[in-house]
Formats: sequence, C-alpha cells, structure tokens
Amino acid sequence: MYMGGLIVKKRNGDTLTKEEIEFMINGYVKGDIPDYQMAAMLMAIYFVGMNDEETVCLTMSMAHSGDMLDLSAIEGIKVAQHSTGGVGDKTSLVLGPMVASLGVPIAKMSGRGLGHTGGTIDKLESINGFHTSLTTEQFIENVNRVKLAIMGQTADIAPADKKLYALRDVTATVDNMSLIASSIMSKKLAAGADAIVLDVKTGSGAFMKKEKDSRLLAKEMVKIGNSAGRRTVAVISDMDQPLGYAVGNAIEVREVIETLNGRGPADLEELCVTLGTHMLLCAGKAATEADAEKMLKETIQSGAVLKKFAEFVSAQGGDSDCIYHPEKLPQASIVKEVTALETGYIKKILCEEIGVVSLLLGGGRRKKEDEIDLSVGIMLRKKVGDFVNKGDSIATIYGNDPEKFKDAYHRMEVAYFYSKTVVEKKKLIKDIIKE
Ligand code: URA
Repeated sequence: MYMGGLIVKKRNGDTLTKEEIEFMINGYVKGDIPDYQMAAMLMAIYFVGMNDEETVCLTMSMAHSGDMLDLSAIEGIKVAQHSTGGVGDKTSLVLGPMVASLGVPIAKMSGRGLGHTGGTIDKLESINGFHTSLTTEQFIENVNRVKLAIMGQTADIAPADKKLYALRDVTATVDNMSLIASSIMSKKLAAGADAIVLDVKTGSGAFMKKEKDSRLLAKEMVKIGNSAGRRTVAVISDMDQPLGYAVGNAIEVREVIETLNGRGPADLEELCVTLGTHMLLCAGKAATEADAEKMLKETIQSGAVLKKFAEFVSAQGGDSDCIYHPEKLPQASIVKEVTALETGYIKKILCEEIGVVSLLLGGGRRKKEDEIDLSVGIMLRKKVGDFVNKGDSIATIYGNDPEKFKDAYHRMEVAYFYSKTVVEKKKLIKDIIKE
C-alpha cells in the first residue's frame, strides 16, 4: 500500500477500504505521509465524496489516532457541545458557563478558526493570559472544581484531526460532509463525553449551504454518535446571516459578556437556550424542555452565568477583570461606519463574505502559520428584515491596517441587499434530529 496509489484510487471515484483509511491516517500522524499528499487526497475526497462506511472508518481511525480520554474521574454525566462552524458563532462561550452554572460538567475540546469561520480558542485568547494548553490532569481537575474547562487539541487527543483541520483550513477542503462529520465526531468520541449536542449550521455562512445537506450531515453525525454509545442530538440552525451582531475575536467576546449580563442579541440567546435545553435533558438535570428553558433563563438573570464565566477564565490563567471591564480587551485603531447604499428593508446579507472580511482584516488565517489580530472585526448594525434609509449605518468596521481596511469597507458595502417591500425575519431553529 502506498499513498500515491490511494490518491489515484479516490481521484478515480473508488471506495477506500478500512485498512487503506487506517494506513493513510496513521501514516499522516506519524509524519510518513507529507502535507502535499494529504492535501491532494483531501481534494480528491472533496470532489468524489465518501460513502457512509468510509466516513465511519475515517472517524474511528481519527478518534483512535491518539489517546481516548477517560473522563470517569469527573462526577456526573458529561455533555459535549459542538458547532459545525459559522460567522459570529460565539455560542460555546455563552453555553458553556450557562450549563455549567446549573451543575452540568462541561469538558470541551475546541478548535481555532476554520476557513471563513472563527474559532472558540482564538476568541478566548483575546482575554489577556487565557490559555487552553492544559494537561489532561489539569483539565479534569478544572472540570471537577469549576464545572467548565476548554482545552485546545493536544498532540495526544485526535492528533489526526488537529493536523487535518489545519491543512483543510488553507486548502479549500473544509466544506465536505464526510470531512466535517469525521473531524467533529472523532474529537467528541476521543474526548470522552457521555452525550453530544451538535449545532449544525445551514445557509450562506455555513459550510453546508443547503438545508438538505445540513440535514444529511446532522443525521450522519447523530448516527455515528449513537452507534458509539453516546446519546447524540443535532439542532439545525440558520446561518444565512451572522449570529448576533459581532464578528471577529475580542469583539465577539464583548458580545458574549453582554449576553451573559442578559443583554445579548435575541438570536444568540434563543440558540443557546435551545442547545442548553438538550444538554440539560441529556445530563438528566431537567425532566422537560419547558423546565430546562426556565432554568437556563433564570440562571442568566441571576448573574450566576457571568460569575461562572469569570471563574472559568481565571482557572485558565485569564484576566477575569476583562469581564467586568471589557474595554481592557484588545482594541483596533481604525473604526468606521459602513452606510447603506439604498433605502429599504435588508433582504439578504452575504454571510460568508462577512466572515471573509473579518479574516482579511487579520481576524483569521490565510496560511497555517499566520498570527491573527484579535482586535479587528465587524459589528453589524442591521440584519435581515430591518429597515434602513440610504446613508444609515449598517455596520462598523474595526481594523488596524489602512490597506486591508479599504478593501474590507468596499466588500461590506456590497454584502447587503435591499428590498422596497417588507422582508420577514428569518426562523433560527430549523429542526432537531435525534436519530
Ligand atoms: N468544526 C470542526 O471541528 N471540524 C470541521 O470540519 C468543521 C467544524
């Protein structure tokens, strides 16, 4: 068996066997297969696809490419949550402390930005001192003590995904059902949670643009999770426009803090309550959806969630004072309003383009080794269904580099589309898949 032969096989439309997939994943993790061959294989998978059986084999090989975490030292039912990625998706940062404040242990493994979407770890790193490089022992200790810990992917847990994730990010091979399902589910299975709640995004800012494809992805992941003995639920949610208003890193953390104070955007709160409801049900902390919803709303209002977030930030070396003084988070030097080119109702926002604008401002990576600028981003002022007069502000751009800023400004101006007639607000939660 050799990698060149496997690339030819997949490129020609054939199915890879379990042994071939294991050979490829083990060889890549060991460094015997170089990035350029794996990049070619990813592109072949992107165009040819993988069947169900190949996807399951890929997921299992990736999950077993490193240690399988044993979380039995953590008391209670551990529930993991994961999003397929979107623009302005700061859900994990709100949901983690919300559910942890109700006593459900959250041991989360998160990633960095991928393609045009931001990553939880990059966002958290805008808090001075915060780090996610915990040892397994520290991770377990933090979850037992604080009820919430987030670690980056180490070389020990699902290392195949860590390497593939970084490679897919820069080789236009993210938006493939099998690659997304195996990436997410390998991490979740290796990280040892008892139950998994997935947020599967659909729309122009998601990797799956069509609802039909998002549904297939949700079903595939639910099937993989349930067959591995982990109760798995997937919520399909809209990503035809950014979630909330903030897109970037520090700017999203500011919106998270507002939300934890009970003043967040309605869509972000609705999604967190829906996902949180299923997490509480899986953890056996609530008997009905209505009970779970009430508990989640009350915990925000009581201030307990904000306190939990501060406790979590301190436990991972971060300056929790930022939470009470968000002005201490990184700030950009150039700030400018983008104004509406027409009068009317906002009909459409090019969601992926908003993610790309944030990336080009420096908020994401163009190459694997790029450092990101945590202070840049976009604050939307208007969303689909809102009315504007020509010249009203539709968004504020935060940047540091005048050249990048000029390009971002132009892209933002043309990312909004207008209608003379009323446009209905979008439904956020499309479906919930349990089997
Ligand atoms: N999130 C992941 O962890 N992997 C993907 O492929 C997409 C989103």
